[in-house]
Amino acid sequence: MPSNLTRRRALLTAAGAAALAATTYGSAHTAPRPAQTPRRPAPGFPEGFRWGTATSAYQVEGAAHEAGRGPSIWDTFTGEPGRIRDGSTGHVSVDHYHRYKEDVALMKSIGARTYRFSIAWPRIFPEGTGTANPRGLDFYDRLVDELLEAGIEPFATLYHWDLPQALQDRGGWESRDTAQAFGDYAAYVASRLTDRVRQVFTINEMQTFVEQGHETGNFAPGLKLPLGRLNQVRHHAVLAHGLAVQAVRASGRRGTKVGPAENIATALPAVETAENIKAAELATRELNAPYLTVMLEGRYTDAWLAKAGRDAPRFTDQELKIISSKVDFVGLNVYAPSQYVLASEAAPGFTPVPFPSSHPHMASSWLLLGPEALYWAPRHAARLWQVKDIFITENGASAADEISADGAVYDVDRVMYLRNCLMHLQRATAEAVPVRGYFLWSLLDNFEWADGYATRFGLVHVDYATQKRTPKLSAAFYREVISRNALA
Ligand code: FCB
Repeated sequence: MPSNLTRRRALLTAAGAAALAATTYGSAHTAPRPAQTPRRPAPGFPEGFRWGTATSAYQVEGAAHEAGRGPSIWDTFTGEPGRIRDGSTGHVSVDHYHRYKEDVALMKSIGARTYRFSIAWPRIFPEGTGTANPRGLDFYDRLVDELLEAGIEPFATLYHWDLPQALQDRGGWESRDTAQAFGDYAAYVASRLTDRVRQVFTINEMQTFVEQGHETGNFAPGLKLPLGRLNQVRHHAVLAHGLAVQAVRASGRRGTKVGPAENIATALPAVETAENIKAAELATRELNAPYLTVMLEGRYTDAWLAKAGRDAPRFTDQELKIISSKVDFVGLNVYAPSQYVLASEAAPGFTPVPFPSSHPHMASSWLLLGPEALYWAPRHAARLWQVKDIFITENGASAADEISADGAVYDVDRVMYLRNCLMHLQRATAEAVPVRGYFLWSLLDNFEWADGYATRFGLVHVDYATQKRTPKLSAAFYREVISRNALA
């Protein structure tokens, strides 16, 4: 354990929902402005904009062996030496499984109106398929009831990367049967939860779990597949999404809304001219060819198929129809831009501009600053695919989150990041780009995959040794934004 962790723990004073209410961070409510200060009303977000936070099952729940849960590929992966930076696992994590009431109270104290969580497939089907675990959904029943009681609208994600290990043993995402199994699991969850959970996301960031899990091997299941097999995994992932959309429609309560939550690869115009904007749209369509583009257009782009050549996936027209089943909304996870582009006369019509080595980033080196992505990602999606309802299903930042002498976490860097992102998001809504809500990643510090626990993304600090929760300055910032439905 790093020695400064002990020091940090000793300095913690405030915790929980009460702490945020009593925080000395200051707010419009606790520190009124002098009466003579002129204050023009700031342009706000659209009325009814849904502000929330997001988490995922393996990252927060813990309780890895409770109520009949089966092992997932992340249990296996974290058990292999050298896979996780600090050698940690999600077995206990931040114990959300047992502390969900406290965590819902925290959401309420921030003023969040929505919560996006994921359901652990191996809790429901410990073997991936077959008979459902009768206790599998109990935790989610309790959580959803608690949320509704607190006036917080639940949004459930069906898959946030924790594939049942039993399915991996039978070929994992290389097998078409896994897509089918996902459809069956989606049908079961929809039949049991959609009386109260009215919005469902199918798969979180398929680009990430496919590529980090099957190309670079950095994430579970840690494979490095050759291109042909990798493209087949990609195809099975989008197929699974389509089968789940159909399953939710067939087995869910009428009117349940369903769509993907994908980390759209976003190209930004390096300079905002009409030509560069067009080029950025073209680039975004190609960058997402095997994911959002095929889901929303029902075909792989010619350029992508030509590039894949003999390594293109095997697929049928019938599968393309399933993959492009009509969705009710599109969730976009937006962190860093993928590239800046300039228009080009030559095909394909855009030239990527490399990131200079001096380009700033947050604590995670992949988190390059580019808050304009919060404007361009939804705008490109709305223009390219005529999407009518968009949610930002994730956005947030990793920061050092040092505890200061008074026990508080003054994460002004995260506040700066969020304020910038939200300014660009506001530009989008002001121009009538149809963004309906925003889920901040994350409510709590948690298990950040291969980075383990050292990388913190929460609005609420967690002392992993004591499970003590301490809202950071960014929680006070977010509460202000929500209460005003505006940035200032
Ligand atoms: C996203 C993941 C989420 C979290 C954030 C930081 O790619 O969906 O689980 O790890 O990044």
